[in-house]
Amino acid sequence: MPDRTPYIAANWKMNKTVAEAAEFVDALLPRIAATQCDVVLCPSFIALNEVVERRRGTAVRVAAQNMHEAESGAFTGEISAAMLVELDVEAVVLGHSERRQYFGETDEALARKVPAALAAGLEPILCVGESAEARAGGETETVLERQLQADLAGVEPADLAGVVIAYEPIWAIGTGATATPEQAQDACAFIRDVVGMRGAAADRIRILYGGSVKAANAAELLSKPDVDGALVGGAALDPEEFAGIVEAAG
Ligand code: PGA
Repeated sequence: MPDRTPYIAANWKMNKTVAEAAEFVDALLPRIAATQCDVVLCPSFIALNEVVERRRGTAVRVAAQNMHEAESGAFTGEISAAMLVELDVEAVVLGHSERRQYFGETDEALARKVPAALAAGLEPILCVGESAEARAGGETETVLERQLQADLAGVEPADLAGVVIAYEPIWAIGTGATATPEQAQDACAFIRDVVGMRGAAADRIRILYGGSVKAANAAELLSKPDVDGALVGGAALDPEEFAGIVEAAG
């Protein structure tokens, strides 16, 4: 099995002003100076530039939380891949369940967004995950497979290894109800199988777990063979706590 570098991403959602983002970066950098992990910060659009500039010269990378699939045009309020690349943003979260739930993000749009991000040189962090009802009904794998097939339909098999996939069960996001390490492992292994069936070098794809990850539970989740990292929301707002998660990843 090839070594997959652990990948720890901070999804700040609609939190932190530019000044607060700057303060976080200054507090985080000395705490994670020795890490070998991929550390990715996902601030709001308006804080992207500040975070990119503050982390220059470090291994920390910066991701947006969404983008539009078109190159440019009459899409009021939207941001294109080229606008992100111009700022030296390197990745983009796509299909987060909050965007699917509150902002009408569809699998059809994601099928265009993922290849558009790759074409622009941005690393997509594609989020998939089932609701509590789907899990209770034994539909977890059906939901994951449907989302993966739809959202990755436009990606050539050879390019799939450039996509990071985040397994984020909706019932675990922001609830404190973290998936058990076994649940996270089972879902991440299933995701790897589904992507492998598309002809991808599935053992090179990074698959993250997200949903109430914190410093205290990160090591156990990350010890699972198919859990390659974490997408962290609430616990990523505090530099000390987030640094603890990075440390747990090794
Ligand atoms: P949480 O959010 O860590 O606050 O549960 C995770 C996410 O939504 O990515």
